[in-house]
Amino acid sequence: MSTILDGSKLSKTIIKKIKTRVSSLSKQPGLAVILVGLDPASHTYVNLKQKACEEVGIAFKKITYPNSVSEKTIIDKITELNHDKNTHGVLVQLPLPNQNVDLIISHINPKKDVDGFHKDNLQKLRENKPSMAPAVALGIIKLICSSGVDLVNKKAVIVSSKLFAEPIEILLKELKVDSFVINYKEENFAEKIKTADIVITAIGKPGLINESMLKNSSIVIDVGTTKVNGKILGDVVINQDNNNTLFITPVPGGVGPMTVAMLLINVLKAYQLQI
Ligand code: GUN
Repeated sequence: MSTILDGSKLSKTIIKKIKTRVSSLSKQPGLAVILVGLDPASHTYVNLKQKACEEVGIAFKKITYPNSVSEKTIIDKITELNHDKNTHGVLVQLPLPNQNVDLIISHINPKKDVDGFHKDNLQKLRENKPSMAPAVALGIIKLICSSGVDLVNKKAVIVSSKLFAEPIEILLKELKVDSFVINYKEENFAEKIKTADIVITAIGKPGLINESMLKNSSIVIDVGTTKVNGKILGDVVINQDNNNTLFITPVPGGVGPMTVAMLLINVLKAYQLQI
């Protein structure tokens, strides 16, 4: 029997606490989101962020642009938001259709960078200094910890890009978990998955990993989201009647809602840095 790491339930508990915290603040925290183009998934994610902000009492501002918007227009808007005393967090929804992501992110005031994507925040994280960590990485760590498993000296593999994995690896190291990034195309992929106590996958290939590939009692964090016939599927396929005692996040209802909850935590952190 597998244990579901229920991100929806855990995020609701966190959101309740955030709501109480927001109501006790002297000023209302604010988040601004820049959304470029018509990508349906990006619009869905931004709507979820808006709904969560409204639920806890964080002021939400959405700035939309067409695909063809210039980098200068976005950067000018970021500069304006950096100076706006009512906006404590600024994020640019990714992916951008054509614009240079690194250039644009570099203009966000690191204190307002609630995505934790600014190079200064990543550098501070590397140096174990207080910083803004990416919400998805924080959400993954909370889900792993919610398993209740003793994590010291456990081994994690992360199936993703190095860029996505780095903040997760840093946070895992703080928990004394050794991790390494693997490529799903490499020869020994299956063997590497089999030896891992924790598997984190963010590829977007339904069925990439199945239960026979996993070590018994491993913790499986599925960040993959692929739309197939109107249904959202993760990278991992598990039979309900399997004999493996896995801890696994569902898709949807695992990492997604936790990422939104941790974004709100980052908005509060940014608020504290600026107040
Ligand atoms: N697109 C997919 N995930 C994210 C995220 O965490 N932040 C932003 N800004 N864009 C995303």
